[in-house]
Amino acid sequence: MRTLFLCGFMGCGKTTIGQLLAKKLSVPFYDLDAYIVKKEGRSIPEIFAADGEPYFRRIEAASIGEISQNGGVIATGGGAILNPNTASLAKARGRVIFLDAPFKVCYARIAGDKNRPLVMNNTKQQLEELYNRRRTVYSENSTDTVSAKGTPEEIAEKILQNL
Ligand code: S3P
Repeated sequence: MRTLFLCGFMGCGKTTIGQLLAKKLSVPFYDLDAYIVKKEGRSIPEIFAADGEPYFRRIEAASIGEISQNGGVIATGGGAILNPNTASLAKARGRVIFLDAPFKVCYARIAGDKNRPLVMNNTKQQLEELYNRRRTVYSENSTDTVSAKGTPEEIAEKILQNL
């Protein structure tokens, strides 16, 4: 099987749905953020604080190339597929599925999360503006858009039906 990349805003369900999809397809699951944390030996807030977001983005782009070589399902970080080079690489290696969840749903899941620097450093209004700007790019940079409403089970089934 080729690689399935899940993209979308923080809190849209990439990890939960990705794990479920990988299980249903009996293929490996990779979480890009978890891979970066392991590789760097420090948390994402620590990477942002010590080396800045541009450094994180470089590591992120390199890491997605490393984990997408052998198939499987990848939950990307919310910023990864915004990079046009990363989006091209992902499309060349498989399908890029945009989980389109309403801002309200995402925000309820991420509010106050100290492990997400963008959440800690922006107001709710700024995050909503970011969400609106990014939504167009996720849509342009993906191969499929799936409405991420419903239970993880229902969303995973919807994705599988369209593969
Ligand atoms: C980010 C999303 C995070 C993580 C980092 C930056 C973003 O991943 O990669 O905090 O730019 O949207 P999740 O989407 O898994 O929260």
